[in-house]
Amino acid sequence: MKKHLVLLGAQWGDEGKGKIVDLLSADFEAVVRYQGGSNAGHTVVVNGEKFILHLLPTGILHPHTFGIVAQGMVVDLDLLVEEIESLENRGIKVWDRILISDRAHLVMPYHKILDSLFERRGKIGTTLRGIGPSYMFKYGRRGIRVSDLEDPDRSYRLIKDNLGFVQDLCEKVYCENYSLNLEEVFEKTMQNYKKIKDRTTDTTRWLLDFKGRVLFEGAQGTMLDVDMGTYPYVTSSNASALGLSSGTGLPPKYFSHANFWAVSKAYTTRVGEGPFPTELKDELGEKLRERGKEYGATTGRPRRCGWLDLVALRHAVEVNALDGIIITKLDVLDFFEEVKASVAYQYEGKVIEHFPASLSLLERAKPIYKSFKGWQKSTKGAKSLGELPEEALGYLEFIQNYLQVPIVMLSTGPARDEFFWFEKLAYQERI
Ligand code: GDP
Ligand code: IMO
Ligand code: MG
Repeated sequence: MKKHLVLLGAQWGDEGKGKIVDLLSADFEAVVRYQGGSNAGHTVVVNGEKFILHLLPTGILHPHTFGIVAQGMVVDLDLLVEEIESLENRGIKVWDRILISDRAHLVMPYHKILDSLFERRGKIGTTLRGIGPSYMFKYGRRGIRVSDLEDPDRSYRLIKDNLGFVQDLCEKVYCENYSLNLEEVFEKTMQNYKKIKDRTTDTTRWLLDFKGRVLFEGAQGTMLDVDMGTYPYVTSSNASALGLSSGTGLPPKYFSHANFWAVSKAYTTRVGEGPFPTELKDELGEKLRERGKEYGATTGRPRRCGWLDLVALRHAVEVNALDGIIITKLDVLDFFEEVKASVAYQYEGKVIEHFPASLSLLERAKPIYKSFKGWQKSTKGAKSLGELPEEALGYLEFIQNYLQVPIVMLSTGPARDEFFWFEKLAYQERI
């Protein structure tokens, strides 16, 4: 049976989803983004050429795919048009292969202003892409959807109402000068809409009618999920499997035969504020950052680095009911004398084995580590299990046994062809 695939982030984002989605997309006819927005930065390296996708599904780089920007996303039209045009300029035809949900909400210029203002009063360390405020407007029922733009009078009224609200908020609550101009915001929005109008549709219906195989591409990661992550240090969407149904408009049953896989680095990173029990604030953390080139694909910020957190990873396995894990960036650990992974936390004399909700607990939890002898040999570009040093194999085996989920693939470098399947046969049976 042909199966759809759901590919998620298992950690705090930036696990290497872009690279994996890109290589897997060869087997799928449609690729779907369904939550988040331009806060995502998904890197793909093809023949030495680097692409970073923010709003478009990464699988669009393959010329045979259809790309869907589904209803759960918040879409910055300026950036969407820019991203499509920049790919077109690089010889990748996108316009005739992309569909944008008419139910998707917009990220407007004033959402980005609010993002900055909110950050000054309680820092989350957001990407400043207006994501949180756009979802606030959506759930507060003040949002503007793509379908609203079909009617210019209605759009004008909605933008005017939103701008009045934001102006009051800026001037009366935050005592900030406010400088957006209604006519300019309206004109620019309608100009952008004109460019995408023919590509907007009911993407839920389209997917229900579609007979091909679909890859659903999660953005961010399970630990940044607004419900299951380290709240409030999360993004404003359901970045775990919980977001699939609302994000696509497809009924939960649609996914009952899909494969659920998630990507995890062989260590851990996070950008922005929030608890990170296995963070290394010393020269080891620095070494991970330098060797792993851990700087944000969207904001360029240095990523915080630390050992693999298996407690958090098991949380991702459970929340998403994962069928398989893909490990990336093992090569970054190649020249460490010792490698560690947390197997539990210690808090006030108690051993915590399951990822807790409590922020105070997480902030004070001390990881209990399992230590591994480093392999101190290169695994970069390895193409089979046989090429891996024994110690690296032992590390991967431990992860697999701890999680009780098969590792299906190992990524051994940033390039499209730097990977190998752990269980090619089982993969073929599953998919
Ligand atoms: P995403 O947001 O999950 O798509 O991940 P990002 O693109 O933000 O960050 C992952 C980074 O790791 C990118 O620079 C990738 O090119 C790179 N990368 C992916 N897989 C590997 C790997 O196996 N080894 C190494 N060294 N780099 C990788
Ligand atoms: P990809 O898809 C890593 C983080 C931000 C911040 C928090 C909230 O590339 O893995 P937001 O702008 O969403 O309101 O910021 O979430 N964040 C990410 N971290 N990768 C991402 O996306 C992220 N998207 C948001 O750094 O801590
Ligand atoms: Mg990223």
